[in-house]
Amino acid sequence: MNNVQIVEVGPRDGLQNEKEIVPVEAKIQLINKLAASGLKRVEATSFVNPKWIPQLADAEEVLQGITRRTDVTFSALVPNLRGLERAAASGLTEIALFMSASESHNQKNINKSIDDTFPILREVAREAQALGLRVRGYVSTVFGCPYEGRVPVENSRRVTHALLEMGVYEVSLGDTIGVATPKQVHEIIGELVKDVTTERLAGHFHDTRGTGLANVVAALHEGIRTFDSSVGGLGGCPYAPGAAGNISTEDLVYMLHGMDYETGVDLDLVTLAGAYIQEQLGRELTSKVLKASLAARSV
Ligand code: HMG
Ligand code: MG
Repeated sequence: MNNVQIVEVGPRDGLQNEKEIVPVEAKIQLINKLAASGLKRVEATSFVNPKWIPQLADAEEVLQGITRRTDVTFSALVPNLRGLERAAASGLTEIALFMSASESHNQKNINKSIDDTFPILREVAREAQALGLRVRGYVSTVFGCPYEGRVPVENSRRVTHALLEMGVYEVSLGDTIGVATPKQVHEIIGELVKDVTTERLAGHFHDTRGTGLANVVAALHEGIRTFDSSVGGLGGCPYAPGAAGNISTEDLVYMLHGMDYETGVDLDLVTLAGAYIQEQLGRELTSKVLKASLAARSV
């Protein structure tokens, strides 16, 4: 199987971590450019408590402003019923639930224990499905926790299964703080795929220590064919100190195409989207392909 699906998370995972709040119009332009580049799945924003993530407090305005396309699924993070209400009112057809494999990250990120999170997310998933929405799920800190270090694979298995039982169609395995190495990806994903089919799993790698793309290759070897990435390599996690951006979409697309995988993404167009948000932010982003492409244009 040579198709790989890319879930673009830059407008959410990337921009949630920018110190400066990006104007609504720039977010709308960015999302429109990403959607026009051939990406079929774009996580556009979050419906979380705006006091926790003021960077995405404009979720409604952003979703109202973007050009809807039938060939692109837009989604958003939702932590509770209030978030679901807001997402549904914004006309989304997909939401993403999120929680952590480690107790302390779950507590810092969503202000409750893992066991107290299950019934809340179960209710959100049930209501969302009743409204006809598709539900994705994230497990954070699968490969390491900023507060607890190594996280037993049993924790990730338990949370992954709980999300699947709620009706989540795909669980994205998060290397929240970018500590994973290919060996660990092989061990952990190799363990999880023993009782979850690869079609139900995705890889979400942050590139804090430069192992992000190597981890994608390791996950490809385990049969994973869906990966999350951020244009330009934007990103981080406000509740994971030192976390850097996600792997960059441009770098991921470049690597996958060179390995004969098909993504449906136009590398030039997605790189132009990276150049756009880099200019808006006024700082150099980490994507290597973006940097090389801009350098080639200036010679
Ligand atoms: P809480 O403060 O404990 O919530 O937050 P609460 O239920 O007690 O409510 C407190 C106030 O927030 C109330 O308002 C609510 O109405 C309001 P008040 O009465 O004080 O005026 N509120 C909301 N307002 C709007 N929309 C909502 C909402 N919910 C409550 N949905 C909560 C609990 C989970 C909401 C909070 O902790 C939160 O928003 N956390 C989100 C943190 C976050 O977004 N983290 C980053 C995303 S996760 C990530 O990046 C990892 C990932 O990329 C994968 C990886 O890399 O591993 C996905
Ligand atoms: Mg993330």
